[in-house]
Amino acid sequence: MNRFTGKTVLVTGAGSGLGRAIARAFAAEGASVVVAGRTAASLDETVALIEATGGTATAVTADVTDSGQLQHLVRESVTRFGGLDIAVNNAGILRGVGAVGDVSEEDWDAVLRTNVTGVWLAMKHEIAHMKANGGGAIVNISSNLGAHLRIPNLAAYITSKAAVSALTRAAALDHIHQGIRINAVSPGASAAPMSLRPGETEADRAERVKAENPLGRVAEAEEVAAAVLYLASPEAGAVVGADLVVDCGASA
Ligand SMILES: NC(=O)c1ccc[n+]([C@@H]2O[C@H](COP(=O)([O-])OP(=O)(O)OC[C@H]3O[C@@H](n4cnc5c(N)ncnc54)[C@H](OP(=O)(O)O)[C@@H]3O)[C@@H](O)[C@H]2O)c1
Repeated sequence: MNRFTGKTVLVTGAGSGLGRAIARAFAAEGASVVVAGRTAASLDETVALIEATGGTATAVTADVTDSGQLQHLVRESVTRFGGLDIAVNNAGILRGVGAVGDVSEEDWDAVLRTNVTGVWLAMKHEIAHMKANGGGAIVNISSNLGAHLRIPNLAAYITSKAAVSALTRAAALDHIHQGIRINAVSPGASAAPMSLRPGETEADRAERVKAENPLGRVAEAEEVAAAVLYLASPEAGAVVGADLVVDCGASA
């Protein structure tokens, strides 16, 4: 399939994990992809992987907690590839592991600033371009943890992702009349770094996850990416404010 030929797609947090898989999937279907994050070297690796398979991508360093850097990121997307049709706000962090009473103010602020304010700020600048240029599609990466599932000792992350799910629906209502379709994908434990516990190998994780969801496995990064591409595609033209859970049934 070549659903995204001629489209420019921006993916934040695209230097690793799910963001890299999402960027590669869009490029494989013809998109020109702008990969963003804070670490130039990992972004360059994503670009090299895409170019090695004949795709088109460019790297722009940007910290999603900084409004000026996000404004620059959107401007660079337009300058380098002539527009911005689709944005995937995927950058996120998991910190502040522990009971609510033990979470440090520093971790709480960092998680909320990156995961919630970062998604809002990114949308703010993406929407400014899209509403002046005929619309577009935005997919925010939330989590099954938050709106769909709670587990102990992850309150900062769970709170942040519940907010991303709610923010997505609020934004969808506010901007659909400007031709901007906004949806979320909420992955469960996936084959990407964030689901690894400290010191855990991928084999350890596979063993642990057997008991954690009905399929007994993690979601592949490509399975999460496929959900993102669907929501960004014309096939999802009537899908507005959805929060598509891809978690092997963990929150079913
Ligand atoms: N893996 C899972 O099991 C899972 C499950 C549910 C939801 N998710 C969500 O999926 C998304 C991707 O997770 P992942 O597993 O792929 O984790 P990951 O490999 O740690 O990727 C997160 C990416 O975000 C970037 N990032 C972090 N802070 C940033 C900032 N302030 N500005 C710009 N970029 C920033 C990181 O790059 P730099 O550090 O270089 O900036 C990194 O490339 C996250 O939103 C996560 O919450 C993951």
